[in-house]
Amino acid sequence: MKIVSAEFLISNSDFKKCPKIREPEYAFIGRSNVGKSSLINMLLGRNKLAKVSSKPGKTQLINHFKVNEGTWYLVDLPGYGWAKVSKSLRSEWEPMTKGYLTTRENLACVFVLIDCRIPPQQIDLDFIDQLGEYGIPFIIVFTKADKLTKNKVQSGVAAFMKALKQRWEELPQYIITSSEAKTGRDELLDFIGDINES
Ligand code: GTP
Ligand code: MG
Repeated sequence: MKIVSAEFLISNSDFKKCPKIREPEYAFIGRSNVGKSSLINMLLGRNKLAKVSSKPGKTQLINHFKVNEGTWYLVDLPGYGWAKVSKSLRSEWEPMTKGYLTTRENLACVFVLIDCRIPPQQIDLDFIDQLGEYGIPFIIVFTKADKLTKNKVQSGVAAFMKALKQRWEELPQYIITSSEAKTGRDELLDFIGDINES
């Protein structure tokens, strides 16, 4: 699928105030700094549409981006696992994110971003478990593949999928990406295109 237009639509701190949209939308979630905003820019082919920072905690709101004349939307969400709260609280879904994920009717799929360099983290596994419990459709998107050799990327991916296998009977689909090297763009866009057409 080609991107013919992309624009920032609106930011919200209250999930109830998110725009009323019938068309499918796709949300990016993952630990702070994993590369959610960068991946949105890479997919949309626009450098500065979503705000990126080397410091974790940059995205604080629910940000909607209108794509291809409003035929579908992307949503940039705040990261988890960084907030200045106790470790036990960190594994709870933040109310804004929880409200959004559990009530958004046109949410077609959640992309759970995982840094392929980092060994499987409890917080990511717990987050994915909760998506399953709520019956929210998702796939795994590995990020920052440019930072490793191909072999090391493959072993990072295998380690994470192995950890998931201990908890899930059926493994989710995954896509390997790099916003820096623009890897995985066509695969992700085709994935979205297939759902949009279904
Ligand atoms: P929060 O909004 O804070 O939750 O972070 P985020 O997940 O949106 O991450 P963001 O896109 O802001 O990127 C965090 C840092 O990682 C920035 O310094 C990016 O330049 C860097 N980064 C993101 N994706 C890639 C990638 O594919 N390769 C490399 N090398 N760096 C990346
Ligand atoms: Mg961000």
